[in-house]
Amino acid sequence: MTYNLNRDPGVDGGIIEAPMPQALELPKTKGEVPYGYFRIPLGILQVDTIPWFSIYLRVQGKREYALYKSRGSKFKEEHKDKLSANRINEIFIKSSERRLYSKYIEDNLKEIIADDSFAIEKKSRLLYNSSTELLREIFNRTQIADKIPRVARLVRHIVDHACQGIEEFISMLDVMSHDYYTVNHSVNVCILGVALGNGIGLDRDELYELGIGLILHDLGKSKIDESILMKKGPLNDSEWKIIKNHPTYGAEIAESTKQVTPLSLTVIRQHHEKCSGKGYPLGLYEPQIHLFSRIAALADVYDALTTERPYSSARNAFSAIQLMQKEMANDFSRDLFKELVLLLTNKPE
Ligand SMILES: [Fe+2]
Repeated sequence: MTYNLNRDPGVDGGIIEAPMPQALELPKTKGEVPYGYFRIPLGILQVDTIPWFSIYLRVQGKREYALYKSRGSKFKEEHKDKLSANRINEIFIKSSERRLYSKYIEDNLKEIIADDSFAIEKKSRLLYNSSTELLREIFNRTQIADKIPRVARLVRHIVDHACQGIEEFISMLDVMSHDYYTVNHSVNVCILGVALGNGIGLDRDELYELGIGLILHDLGKSKIDESILMKKGPLNDSEWKIIKNHPTYGAEIAESTKQVTPLSLTVIRQHHEKCSGKGYPLGLYEPQIHLFSRIAALADVYDALTTERPYSSARNAFSAIQLMQKEMANDFSRDLFKELVLLLTNKPE
């Protein structure tokens, strides 16, 4: 039996119904996938879906991959059964098709999250990665309006998963990346803020609306020059002036899609307001700041402190909470701050 690894008939090329090859097996050890492919668990593929990426299997004893199914062909129950019967639990995808894979995961998250055969942490990681991937597209500011329904769907998954139980919430905290990227920060703030909202008794619809505001809260940074966002050391006055525009820019961009509710826009617009009146852009005081925006402000600062930044290293949860308590107590709602402490003390270090 021979496989032509270069043959890939493409979307219209139909299915390569390769008979189950004897020469294929699981890779022996993890982490030995050569550049150009990445592995995923077979269980990720949902029956009766059409993956828009090609599926490869590893050739036994070789660092080579055989095309098993070309992209655009339906993955059926019989395929899954055959692979499982041959003890093939992992499949391989070309790195060049990673974006198609991410979209596939995003489209099938509901089924993946409902599947009890996946560990909670795996579900959280897939959810987290799908969210950061989508935000990367949003921050490129191309056809944002088309992507808002996808954002809304992802936020619903985040809310439903993070509020499912303490184990799910903790696993979401665990998979958070604390590298300094706006997309990571946006998802982190969404997870933390939604958990805070859940903790104070907001209902699901309120959490969805809050979540959309949270995940898009820094959208306005897409209009600000990278050299200012990534600057090492303190910003000068003119750079600060530019940075302070990002809540307004973000709300304007989101509003232009005509798909973001006024309440979610308020979260974006007010996420840097402080209860002490020392925030921006308007310097509002606590009673003037919407509850959802106060949640955003708290989650935003906590995540910033626990993230590695160009000008300061990441603090652990305890140190961040201590700093917020000592130096920023008047900036946050007392009750919300208590709720944050309560949430984080449920998480083992
Ligand atoms: Fe911000």
